Amino acid sequence: MKIIRLETVDSTNTYALQHFEELDDLSAICANSQTKGKGRFDRVWISDCTENIYLSIVLKPNKKTYIANLTQYLCVVVAKTIEKYGIEPQIKWPNDVLTNSKKICGILCESFLKNNKIEGLVLGVGINLNMPEHSLKVINQPATALNIETGKNINKEEFLKKLLEEFFVNYSNTIENGFTTFKNDYINRACFLGKTVFLQHREQSIREELFAKDIDNNGNLIAIKKTGEEKTILSGDIIL
Ligand code: BTN
Repeated sequence: MKIIRLETVDSTNTYALQHFEELDDLSAICANSQTKGKGRFDRVWISDCTENIYLSIVLKPNKKTYIANLTQYLCVVVAKTIEKYGIEPQIKWPNDVLTNSKKICGILCESFLKNNKIEGLVLGVGINLNMPEHSLKVINQPATALNIETGKNINKEEFLKKLLEEFFVNYSNTIENGFTTFKNDYINRACFLGKTVFLQHREQSIREELFAKDIDNNGNLIAIKKTGEEKTILSGDIIL
């Protein structure tokens, strides 16, 4: 795997999309800081802690059937990597990783299209590895970092190595077979199942109260509305 290391960049995802055609499949872009870090739903991802991970992986698989499942796959990969530090992370649908109910990692998947056809993906991941408490307080949601959770400074290079190794364990399998490859790993870490949660839909401030019943074989959320009606949810954000 080729790793392109940048001191600072607007966003590793933007960089990867701009250079998509000249980048090889499975290239990784890793920056020490980002000036325009992007989150899901056009949110800002504050990216000035040089000891955190700001990483984008370029993926151009031949088989595209299960490409949409790679975001949740990466979420499991991050959770498993964090577990190697003796911490028990939780997964919040669709692809947030939390520890102690606070966000430690965010994933942003963007697709590269040519003539309206998907050519591949850029999977971006931001992981709070080493942060002072005061930097966490300016984040607009409960957030934590691995150094806070473990009480130890985290070696960024070691973490990155473990993360990329874990990524390849089931990557080909996931490309071939989709969400079912890692469904158990996902569900075993899910912190929202069997609970009443709020779902915030893209670009809407309305929050819908739902019972989070299950995850289907495509990684969608199966929820029960207040009316008792069952509903399959493809995207959104869960608020616990
Ligand atoms: C979210 O939870 O909203 C997703 C955050 C994703 C942040 C990462 S950091 C590396 C990559 N580059 C970006 O601009 N965003 C992603």
